[in-house]
Amino acid sequence: MRREDFPPLRKTDLTYLDSACMSLRPDPVIDAVETYYREYPACPGRSHHSMSEKASDELIKSREKIADFVGADSENLMLTSGTTEGLNTVARGFDTQKVFLSDREHNSNLAPWQRKNCETVFLETENGLDIESLRSNVSEGNLVSLVHISNLDGMEFRIEEVAQIAREQGAYTLVDAAQSAPHMPLDVSEMPVDFLAFSGHKMLGPSGTGGLYVSERTQNKLEPLNTGGGAVEDTTQFTRERRDFPYGFEAGLPNVAGFIGLGKAASYLSDIGMGKVESHEHKLTEKLEQGFSDIEEVSYISNGPGVVTFWVDGMDAHQVALMLDRKDIAVRSGKHCVHSWFDQKDVRPGVRVSLHLYNNDEDIREIVEEVKKISYVA
Ligand code: ALA
Repeated sequence: MRREDFPPLRKTDLTYLDSACMSLRPDPVIDAVETYYREYPACPGRSHHSMSEKASDELIKSREKIADFVGADSENLMLTSGTTEGLNTVARGFDTQKVFLSDREHNSNLAPWQRKNCETVFLETENGLDIESLRSNVSEGNLVSLVHISNLDGMEFRIEEVAQIAREQGAYTLVDAAQSAPHMPLDVSEMPVDFLAFSGHKMLGPSGTGGLYVSERTQNKLEPLNTGGGAVEDTTQFTRERRDFPYGFEAGLPNVAGFIGLGKAASYLSDIGMGKVESHEHKLTEKLEQGFSDIEEVSYISNGPGVVTFWVDGMDAHQVALMLDRKDIAVRSGKHCVHSWFDQKDVRPGVRVSLHLYNNDEDIREIVEEVKKISYVA
């Protein structure tokens, strides 16, 4: 699917299978970033000269495209440096004493709650998310903060149902959509969630970009992480008047080039259609599972499209990844920032294959063949 738009895939024999960590970027995104720097590299929303006005207009249009991509109104979308900033904003700025997490949260949806020093309740995911435990224990003012799609094996949680249960009990829901926004249709207007955080660098956009959707009912319950220039209407030496969400939460000069690139990435993906992206990855994942099933020395986990973590008997994960790299196959090895899951289940580090729209049957054939060869020498 539009493989030729991605420069690293044009130049080399690269088999890129690490998109859960970082996606590749297509020409239109790179061009949009470059055009900003070449043609109108000015401050948006501050000065009134033409370049500044152009930067403001492009930033406004980009916010609309990014918000639209997740089904949000642009006034309900804060631009962030990525999912981690979104999650930290909620952890620092939303008052709650009890948070429900799953047992497979990324460090960015774990460490901020540990620092907050609130009560944390972990929901089991062995057979899918333990929704019944949530239903019986969640109560008013709690927060349910869950990964939408696991970056370990593609397991998807039924966020709509979770959010409905939370809302019925007077609780709130935060969704870590880092691995869902880039790979499936998302529409926050159809889910009763209060917060949804995602990253640009996993959805074909520039690094250091992302978004945090905040529901209208929750905006006045949230305090910003930072304050400063751009986030205040007015100040005196001793007072400040904060701007409304989202601007009051975006202190300092924004990553203008980055957000313009992210707006372009959102349009690029929307033009292709997220349903198509999802079904393309689904088909490739089935082929990969089939290929790995035929190798006796390989075990793997896969519970949804796009992400498969595997182990080769008797071989260290990093060693497997380095051997694949020698064949121009890029994968990630280790605990994938979900150390707590590996440690709690006593699972050794694994090798992860993660896909995006630019992968094809040939990529799957390549990795299966190489893993087969590695397994024979193990
Ligand atoms: N969480 C990112 C990954 O899964 C960094 O690779």
